[in-house]
Amino acid sequence: MKRHILLHPDPRLKKLCEPVAEISSEIGKLAEDMLETMYDAPGIGLAAPQVGVLKRVLVMDCVKEAGAAPRPMVMVNPSVLWSSEDTSVYDEGCLSIPEHYAEVRRPAEVRVSWTGLDGKLQEEQFSGLWATCVQHEIDHLDGKLFVDYLGPLKRQMITRKMQKLKRELARGG
Ligand code: NI
Repeated sequence: MKRHILLHPDPRLKKLCEPVAEISSEIGKLAEDMLETMYDAPGIGLAAPQVGVLKRVLVMDCVKEAGAAPRPMVMVNPSVLWSSEDTSVYDEGCLSIPEHYAEVRRPAEVRVSWTGLDGKLQEEQFSGLWATCVQHEIDHLDGKLFVDYLGPLKRQMITRKMQKLKRELARGG
């Protein structure tokens, strides 16, 4: 089932999310819905607070090559174990801030651990777009958005445009 994606600014996007205590069927359904919502958008990553669930769950699939097999990933309680000193810059976007993009500098590689839907602890090192995406999504679980990396003027400009968009959507226009 596709879920509704919250748009910035929204207080639920600024909250520190709670760790998941147990991989219940509810968490399984949440992850399935989040993947469906992400692919439909379309996007390469989605965090639970973006669908209004303040729990530490994210999904992503950064396979971009046409015809390549998808690689849907679900991470419960992810944490960054190691970040490279090397950085890279990506023009980031966010499904909660549609049609706005900005360059954000982050560590080029990260090692991440998480619990899978099977309850097993997993660990993997990411680089390239995967590294940027996983850091962006983990930020969401800490109430942080990519616009928080920007200078105040650029951030305020994007936030005002989003407030205007939300008013228009609320009026049904
Ligand atoms: Ni995002």
